[in-house]
Amino acid sequence: MSLLKVEDLNVYYGNIHALKGISLEVEKGEVVSLIGANGAGKTTTLQAISGLLPVKAGDIIFKNNSILKQKAFKRTRMGIAQVPEGRRIFQGISVEDNLKIGAISVDASSEDDKIEMDKIFELFPVLKERKKQKAGTLSGGEQQMLAMGRALMLRPEVLLLDEPSMGLSPIFVDKIFKTIEILKEQKRTILLVEQNANLALEIADRGYVLETGKIVKEGSAKDLRTDPDVKAAYLGI
Ligand SMILES: Nc1ncnc2c1ncn2[C@@H]1O[C@H](COP(=O)(O)OP(=O)(O)OP(=O)(O)O)[C@@H](O)[C@H]1O
Ligand SMILES: [Mg+2]
Repeated sequence: MSLLKVEDLNVYYGNIHALKGISLEVEKGEVVSLIGANGAGKTTTLQAISGLLPVKAGDIIFKNNSILKQKAFKRTRMGIAQVPEGRRIFQGISVEDNLKIGAISVDASSEDDKIEMDKIFELFPVLKERKKQKAGTLSGGEQQMLAMGRALMLRPEVLLLDEPSMGLSPIFVDKIFKTIEILKEQKRTILLVEQNANLALEIADRGYVLETGKIVKEGSAKDLRTDPDVKAAYLGI
């Protein structure tokens, strides 16, 4: 049984039919990658799942129930956390306060929040070193870590990651993917959106290929990595 299921999802921006009936599933403990070129509809898919965009037709099922009628904040509270494209952390406040804000919508004691924050500091030691620093002074890679940390403060059941490697230097791309690997080892459930298809399919259990609002291919990450069309179009080999 899947934790998250998207069924025949249709999303429009005005007249633009951005998602043309896409279906995908994420099982508990799975890392699933959604790959595709610029404008394919990857972010739109995540925004629709998070409740940040209206759905014209289709359904989004989380833990066996449709969540279409739930507002975004409710979906977050239910356990769906998105790390948005471009991170969107709060630049003017400290690293620590950014993490605390992450926990606001969770019903947990401040001791529990502290325990969670310590786990995040273990995952990203640099955030601990800089916890009093204004978030805006962090490098792009560190800001990505903070954005991931903030989402993890929600103790999500599924983490939606939108292009975590975008704009980062190779060292930080490597660090971010090593962290995703650790989260995978911890049996977290992740839907990963990436243009870096090589890395995304290396880390994933399964994958979907999105082209102009449609899923054109799906399968095990291993099969997709060896698929001639995927190789030619997305893996540069
Ligand atoms: N706010 C908007 N208004 C109108 N059209 C939009 C809007 N946001 C996205 N679109 C269009 O919807 C389609 C899907 O966009 P989306 O941002 O989901 O793509 P993406 O796969 O995330 O691309 P990228 O890799 O560039 O982030 C594109 O054709 C885009 O131009
Ligand atoms: Mg995008």
